[in-house]
Amino acid sequence: MGMMVDPKYGGGGMDAISYVLAMEEISKVDASCSVVMSVNNSLVCWGLEKYGTEEQKQKYLVRLAKGEIIGAFCLSEPEAGSDATSQRTTGIDAGDHYVVNGTKNWITNGNSASVYLVMVQTNKEAGHKGINCLIIEKGTPGFVIGPKENKMGIRASDTHSLMFENVKVPKANRIGEEGFGFKFAMKVLSGGRIGIASQALGIASGAYELALQYSKERKAFGKEISKHQIIQFKLADMATRIEASRLLIYRSAWLKDQHLNFDKESAMAKVFASETAMWVTTEAVQVHGGYGYVKEYHVERLMRDAKITQIYEGTSEVQRIVISRQVLAS
Ligand code: CAA
Repeated sequence: MGMMVDPKYGGGGMDAISYVLAMEEISKVDASCSVVMSVNNSLVCWGLEKYGTEEQKQKYLVRLAKGEIIGAFCLSEPEAGSDATSQRTTGIDAGDHYVVNGTKNWITNGNSASVYLVMVQTNKEAGHKGINCLIIEKGTPGFVIGPKENKMGIRASDTHSLMFENVKVPKANRIGEEGFGFKFAMKVLSGGRIGIASQALGIASGAYELALQYSKERKAFGKEISKHQIIQFKLADMATRIEASRLLIYRSAWLKDQHLNFDKESAMAKVFASETAMWVTTEAVQVHGGYGYVKEYHVERLMRDAKITQIYEGTSEVQRIVISRQVLAS
């Protein structure tokens, strides 16, 4: 749960490439587990380790990195999804604390988390420069967790809306300087996209392995379906797109490990890997025929799980915004 965190804060001390490998393997089997892992590692632990104060690290990061508690990252709102600068949750400055009011939507680990990194607007006139990230603990008076969402996929991961009504949060729980919250969210999400790309890679490679195995067992027209060229070509295309995704992801993880800028590369990895996951899982269901469409077979679940990778931590459209801006600026 804290693979990349320095061991002095209870983490595994590994690099981003190692994290990608672990994410892929776990996602082959259960993308619900891997999203819990991804949010905790990439968004919460990495954000706290990179930008938190020593006091915040001791108080929260150590337990998060050891997996004793888990964290949540709260940016999305009913009217602020892709358009993340339009934050409506407010934090009124009240001296040594903020008073937080508002609603957050689609929060991964919404009920199972103990620590929440919550983006709030503390100065509306300042736009995105008036956004702050506050650490809010579960159980703080006025902080209410809404019902669990009934999702298409990743159903074992709990997603909730969160309500804040006059929640008092000490200023010591703000991450970074006043107004750093939006940049914090963007920086953290850039790394998070490597994690979700790896999740998509795992979903795709899990579905591909199942389709490959099934094609060698299932017979039609007097021979294994893997001996029909139409199936062979599907397997070839799956393998090629998966390998291309893997290389994009490794490159962005490597750039992160070298402390080089990886905003564009992680967006490229995420958009390509998530579209690959959707395509590969759909084809894997097709290879399984009717068996692929029933719940006894794992590919049906992988296809439902794949869809979310094109939506969370920035939709495919958002990734294209990030990539095209950098391409045009270069
Ligand atoms: N690093 C540092 N600063 C950045 C940055 C980055 N990667 N990206 C943007 N910024 C800065 C910009 O420089 C700008 O600051 P200045 O004015 O000082 O230059 C500021 O942030 C605003 O940037 P933009 O003008 O580019 O903002 P925008 O309104 O055009 O939006 C966007 C850009 C890329 C679309 C952004 O809003 C975005 O990423 N949206 C998607 C949000 C998202 O990914 N949500 C996921 C929720 S979390 C989740 O899903 C977790 C889970 O459950 C699994």
